[in-house]
Amino acid sequence: MDLNRNLLLSQCLEALGLVLEYDLNDHPSHQHAVRVGESCALIAEKLGLPPERIQQIYYAGLIHDIGKISIDINILRQKRKLTADEFTHVKKHSVTGSRIAAALPELSDLSFWIRWHHEKWDGTGYPDGLAGVQIPVEVQIMSAVDCFDSLQTPRLDRDKITAAEAEEVIKQQRGTAFNPVIVDIISQMIADGEITPGKSSDKFIELKKKHLNRIYRQSTDNYWSGIGMTGMYPILRLFARVIDAKHEYTQGHSTRVSILSRYIAQKAGFSVDDIIKVEIAGLLHDAGKISIPHEVLDKKNIPDNTEWEIIRNHPVHSCNILSNIYLMSEIAQITKQHHERLDGSGYPAGEVEKGISILAQIIAVSDSFDAMTSERSYRKRRNIEAAYREIADGAGIIYNREFADILTSTPPYYINALFDMHIG
Ligand SMILES: [Fe+2]
Ligand SMILES: [Fe+2]
Ligand SMILES: [Fe+2]
Repeated sequence: MDLNRNLLLSQCLEALGLVLEYDLNDHPSHQHAVRVGESCALIAEKLGLPPERIQQIYYAGLIHDIGKISIDINILRQKRKLTADEFTHVKKHSVTGSRIAAALPELSDLSFWIRWHHEKWDGTGYPDGLAGVQIPVEVQIMSAVDCFDSLQTPRLDRDKITAAEAEEVIKQQRGTAFNPVIVDIISQMIADGEITPGKSSDKFIELKKKHLNRIYRQSTDNYWSGIGMTGMYPILRLFARVIDAKHEYTQGHSTRVSILSRYIAQKAGFSVDDIIKVEIAGLLHDAGKISIPHEVLDKKNIPDNTEWEIIRNHPVHSCNILSNIYLMSEIAQITKQHHERLDGSGYPAGEVEKGISILAQIIAVSDSFDAMTSERSYRKRRNIEAAYREIADGAGIIYNREFADILTSTPPYYINALFDMHIG
């Protein structure tokens, strides 16, 4: 079943890459996306990247422009240079594409690469203005290959140029748009016949047999990581939306807590099962807020004692709601403890460190972070740096030190990108 899913995925992406070409180009036979995927895979192999990354970069090459499906086709088919407004619109395709890719768990790394495929080595690209080594090596490869190959494809607003001319163009942008090392490798590989401009090389056919159409993701065979709980995701997400929809200022809160908790759990090396559990617990941790009246949650002033009592009880309500759902009792216990603090200063039970489930300790960090960086009815939002300082101050006292460290050592642009591609 896993092998079929993988084959299906790879074939769908190849088809998608082609459909996209068909839409964008007068001559679908040019297969720009396929060639970008192939060359990227060859360069990744040359650089000694592991097989799983070679497979992923091939996929990324195939669908790097997938976000263009949301752009008005009349703009893309313009026979003249784009106006400034049109260009702003077209530039959105990298962010849109990353959101599409982020929806499939198999493509989660790749969604970053798609988001960043128009970033430039000197920091003048978009959407995040990353520079140098902030740009993942896969993206450095992809952007150079994308440019090199696009130039050899006729577009409506210009003629194609020869491979030698295209190579000259990327050499001129060595150190500005592109990592010089990558440009040199491309030149070397063309000289050695390892990349054949405009065609599938024999070398790629060999590589495809060796590395592509294989499964690299291991999953254990039980309910959590099998299709059982992951199959329920669409329903659970809907549930989370209902929770967040109750109060406007919490829009997206459950999803962000879920995404960030999964990220921390992955970085901390948790098992696949635990990662799924924390992700689901993150989505549903505030289910009990449904029971808090609007006049309490939306209050402009600091809540009074009775109101605090109601608010402090929401984790108990989350737990009660979820305990009634099949197989959710463990998740229910995690949600009950998401406001407990290591030093016993939290609620509802005032548990200390050893009494708090380790997954609840992850949620505590991501939930606090998102609360600090969101607007609340009774106070303004803080920026990421300020939130980091507050979390760092509480590390080892109220927050688990390891999880706090993982979060605060993550660059803010990474967190913004992670949230943006899943929520928008
Ligand atoms: Fe693009
Ligand atoms: Fe909460
Ligand atoms: Fe929360």
